[in-house]
Amino acid sequence: MKKEDFKVYRKVLDEITIFGLWKLSNKQYFDILESIVKEGKESVVFSAKDKEGNWLAIKIYRIFHCDFKSMWKYLIADPRFLSTKKDRKSVIFNWCKREFRNMKIAYEKAKIFSPKPIAFFNNILIMEFIGKDGKPALRLSEVDDLENPDKLYKTSIEQVKKLFENRLVHGDLSAFNILYHDKKPFFIDFSQGVRDNHPLFLDFLKRDLKNLNSFFKKFTDIIPLENLYEEIVGDKYDV
Ligand SMILES: Nc1ncnc2c1ncn2[C@@H]1O[C@H](COP(=O)(O)OP(=O)(O)OP(=O)(O)O)[C@@H](O)[C@H]1O
Ligand SMILES: [Mg+2]
Repeated sequence: MKKEDFKVYRKVLDEITIFGLWKLSNKQYFDILESIVKEGKESVVFSAKDKEGNWLAIKIYRIFHCDFKSMWKYLIADPRFLSTKKDRKSVIFNWCKREFRNMKIAYEKAKIFSPKPIAFFNNILIMEFIGKDGKPALRLSEVDDLENPDKLYKTSIEQVKKLFENRLVHGDLSAFNILYHDKKPFFIDFSQGVRDNHPLFLDFLKRDLKNLNSFFKKFTDIIPLENLYEEIVGDKYDV
């Protein structure tokens, strides 16, 4: 894709992002942008394709729309990002880097259902597309005919456990950040994920489990939060 070709996105994308996309496409991480999958306040997700015609998802953090001051507070509480400078670009670039790193742990180490992270640069994250023929999978919150909610619930809990065993907690898990694809729960949106060196590691775990329970209780029998927490944490983090 040539630099001029990105100009059509001027309305939604700033110069820094256009430059980043151009760099990533030069490095062959993707070939063409297809369409906007979701435009949010802080990010825009595009569908794209690589040279072989594989679908990709490209998440772009909107540099000039993000509330970087509160993001900075969250970031510096994470020992991995303790020294992040308090300027807009540093914060957003590191936010994106954190999502990439967390997704890598989830996909490669914990081996849960999640998009495969492919590359990141500045405010841009390229990952595997979850969906079919360029049509994104529905969020769990949008599915009205969950086929086997009990199985989906158990798999989701199992995935939280696998992440935990790899010292990662998602940190923003809810029916909005799980895609329902091939009847399986794909976790996405890892930017708030923390490792076990974060002071709120166990609190975030509890919150994620609580969110899963409050969604699934409408569809199936759930396991009480205390039991789930005990089963996952056990005596691993005794204080
Ligand atoms: N890998 C993917 N494949 C298909 N669709 C995706 C993928 N990643 C994200 N999406 C779509 O884009 C939407 C927004 O993605 P995501 O939840 O990561 O961003 P966000 O909620 O804007 O992020 P944040 O909460 O960090 O601002 C998802 O709900 C989903 O519809
Ligand atoms: Mg989200």
